[in-house]
Formats: sequence, C-alpha cells, structure tokens
Amino acid sequence: MEFKAIVDPKAHHASACAVVGIYENGDLGAAARPVDAQQGGLLTKLHRAGDFAGKLGDTLLLPQARGAAAKRLLLVGLGSRSAFGRKPYRKALRAAAQALAKTGAADAAVYLGLEEIEDLDAHYKARAVAEAFRMQAYRIPDLKTAAAAKPWALERVDVAVADSRSVGPAADGLRYGQAIASGMALARDLANLPPNVCTPTYLGNRAQRLAKEWPGIKTKVVDQAGIRTLKMGAFLAVTQGSEQPPRLIVCEYRGGKKSAAPICLIGKGITFDSGGISLKEPPAMDEMKFDMSGGAAVLGTLRAVAELALPINLVVIVAACENMPSGRATKPSDIVTTMSGQTVEILNTDAEGRLVLCDAITYSRRFKPAAVVDVATLTGACIIALGNHFSGLMSNHEGLAEDLHAAGLRADDRAWRLPVGEEYADQLKSNFADLANIGGREGGASTAASFLWKFTQDLKWAHLDVAGTAWLSGAQKGSTGRPVPLLVDFLRQRAHAA
Ligand code: BES
Ligand code: MN
Ligand code: ZN
Repeated sequence: MEFKAIVDPKAHHASACAVVGIYENGDLGAAARPVDAQQGGLLTKLHRAGDFAGKLGDTLLLPQARGAAAKRLLLVGLGSRSAFGRKPYRKALRAAAQALAKTGAADAAVYLGLEEIEDLDAHYKARAVAEAFRMQAYRIPDLKTAAAAKPWALERVDVAVADSRSVGPAADGLRYGQAIASGMALARDLANLPPNVCTPTYLGNRAQRLAKEWPGIKTKVVDQAGIRTLKMGAFLAVTQGSEQPPRLIVCEYRGGKKSAAPICLIGKGITFDSGGISLKEPPAMDEMKFDMSGGAAVLGTLRAVAELALPINLVVIVAACENMPSGRATKPSDIVTTMSGQTVEILNTDAEGRLVLCDAITYSRRFKPAAVVDVATLTGACIIALGNHFSGLMSNHEGLAEDLHAAGLRADDRAWRLPVGEEYADQLKSNFADLANIGGREGGASTAASFLWKFTQDLKWAHLDVAGTAWLSGAQKGSTGRPVPLLVDFLRQRAHAA
C-alpha cells in the first residue's frame, strides 16, 4: 500500500472512494460539508431520514453521485463531536479501513484527519491512518490450506490535509506509520508462527536476514557453545532441557554519531514456555508460543528504525531458547551462577524469563549503553494487575520511565508504572544462593522486575512487562505487535533530542 499526503480541504480529489466523517448529532465533518453542498444536501437528508446517524464506527457506502469526483463515498460515523479525540479518531479509521476492504476500491482518499483533534498534530493524524490501514491489511502467516477469503485490493491511500503547511508533517507521519506497521507485522509474524517453526534457530536466521535487508544492521548470532563461553549460567539453565539449541541474537544498528552511546533493547525470546519441570497446566499452554513476543517486538522495532534511518545507535539483544522438561532439565532447587557472578537458586523453572534476561542485561554492558530497556512477557501477575490494556513499566531511572510512559501515550500503546526495587527484591531471598528466582504471589510483576533490577546497577534501565498486551486470546487469538509503537516513538524522541 502506498500512502500520500494531499492538500484537499474540500474533497475535490478524484479517487475510487472518498472517506468522510459525520458526527452523531448530524454535524457534518470538515469534508462532509462541501460534499453535502455539492450533492444538494444528500448527507443531511440521509441523516434526517435516520439512515445514517453518525454513530462512532458506523459506515455507509454510497455509489458515485452525479458530478462527484470520487467513484464511491464512504460515510464514517465519528460519534459525538464533544467526545471526538484521539481514540474515537482511531476507531473511525479502523472502521473505514474495514469497510473499504469489503469494496473493490483500489485507491481511496481519506478526509477524517481534517477534523480538529485535541493533542493530535498533522504528523500523528497521518501516522494513525497508515497504522490503521496497514493493521487491517495484516494477514496471519497461517497454514490453512484453503486460500484467503478476499485479497487486499487497496493499493493507494491519499490522506487529505487542510493546507500546504501540513503536507510535510503529514508525509513524515505516514512514513512513521508505515515503518511502525512493518515493524509490527514482523513482530506479529514471528509471534504468530507455531513453535515448531519459530525456534531459536529460526529467530536467529530471521535476524541474519534483517541484516541482509537493511545495510544499517549487523547481526551476530551466538550459539550454545558461545553462550557457555560467555558464562551465561542462568540462560543455559533454561535451555538445558530442550532439544532445540539456544541462540543469543545481537543486532547492531549504527545510525548515530560513532561516539554516541547506544540504546539497548533486550527481548525475552522463549519460543515455547512449557514451564519446564514446574510444568504449566494444559489450558492455554498453547499460548506460550507467544513467550518470544518481547524478542519479536525488539526485532520489529529494529526493522522500523532501519526503515526510518533514525540517527541513533541501537543494539538489540534477543535471548532465545525453549523452556522444556526432560531428564536434562533444570530441577527446582538447582543453583546456577549468572554471567554477573551472582548465584541463583531456581525454585520454580517456570520463572525462566528473568533467568535468560538477567544474563542478557549483563551482556549488554559491553556496549556501554545510554539506556537498557528489556521487553518481556514476564508474569501472569502483570495481567492480573493491568489486564490487556497497559504494559507494565518499571525502571530504576525517573527520566527514562517518564520518556517511555510519554511515548506510550503518544503512540497509543500505553504503559503503566509499577514499582520496582529493594522491598520486592527482599522477597527473593534464598538460604542457599544470592537470590531465588521467585518471591511469592504478592506483587508478582514487581518481584520479577526486581529480580532483573538486581542486575542493573549503574545502568539506566527500564522493563516492559508485556504479558497482557503482546497478544490477544479467544476468538481474536494472535499477536498484537505491541509494544513496537511505544518503542519506535521513544526512539524517535531520542533521535530528535540528540
Ligand atoms: N511466560 C510466563 C508469563 C506469562 C504467563 C505470560 C501467562 C502471559 C501469560 C512466565 O515465564 C511465567 O511462567 N511466569 C510465572 C512466574 C511464576 C512462576 C513466579 C507466572 O507468571 O506464573
Ligand atoms: Mn514461565
Ligand atoms: Zn515465560
């Protein structure tokens, strides 16, 4: 799909479909007004007759009227005018993309961004269009033998802005929207693949391919022997029950000054989390193929950053392995030595994410990072705390936490601060080692984060627990691609600040 910003405040542009908004009270949106006038009050009549009330997300497709520039007109309900804002705008865009997909239109002109929207400038308005349409066009890489129902016909989307001043920012927003969508698509593809396909080896190969596709990226994949040489005892403890070999994936993107310290993104890459000897219950165990969603998201973010050619330095690390039971598997009460030298008593082999991540965090020190952000489907407790709406955000640095939080708001990929630190780390005391890998049920998301916190001394570090946000269950089962939008926005901000 191609996106372009056009100046067209009055919907004069010729297209296969013009998308205009109507509010609930019959208020015509910015582009609907001139269309209505041109069509002799058609939209007003439709509203008065009760045929289109403008309810948020409702759509009505009309064939070409006499003298109209567009071959079709898609009316989109914007809901109440006073409540119209960032969220309703996104919902209206989703509805428009969904309705358009059912038509044969190969191109469309979208006028919804002509509305006044609080806190949204031309960049973010346009970004949302590209994201919504690309999201709608996404197809799970399924293994269904029958062909997909309806191929995606829409090839070109023109995004209307009010004046020539807005073209630059809107074009930039479209560029971001597409890069974010591509990054999310990569993350979603990887996470949606079954675990017999998406193994640690597969993830490593995909990261190698990223380096071929994007000259700014260099990838190194460390195998089991290399991981042993690095003395990543905690990582090795998780993988040791598995037939699939582990991979430590390290990608470097250098877009900034040579001397500039990189941002380091670390992803949990458990390609299947059975729980190990502390085996999980069968219900929903299938969803543990998504336990590499953090790794998928940081790779997706890397792809987006490369596409945008952001002037920053970025290091992406994915600790990829399976967590399986076997005669060789780690047993509850085993003690291992982490790469940092701290010893850990593994009381529950299902608390494996923190084990692979603590060694990845220690490994990241060699890059002298300006900040380290790890992304992980780390705890069920985080889902209990925040549901599926917010990712958990913990940090040892106020400024970093604030930047990530703000990025989540701007990107509509929100995170909520949760506590981390000494009080929770106290729950991780062991009689036999420096640390235990579990700390009781209370504050589970924060004790997991505080385990990691023990490995972050002198690092500017933040942790995103995406257990509740990285995928959806039920009929909508599948990866969401979160928190790619948050991370890309965070890095954009860093690039602008530099
Ligand atoms: N990958 C899981 C966390 C998870 C569970 C994410 C369900 C999404 C849905 C993680 O490895 C895990 O098993 N965590 C345990 C920790 C516990 C043993 C302290 C959990 O949350 O139950
Ligand atoms: Mn687990
Ligand atoms: Zn896990």
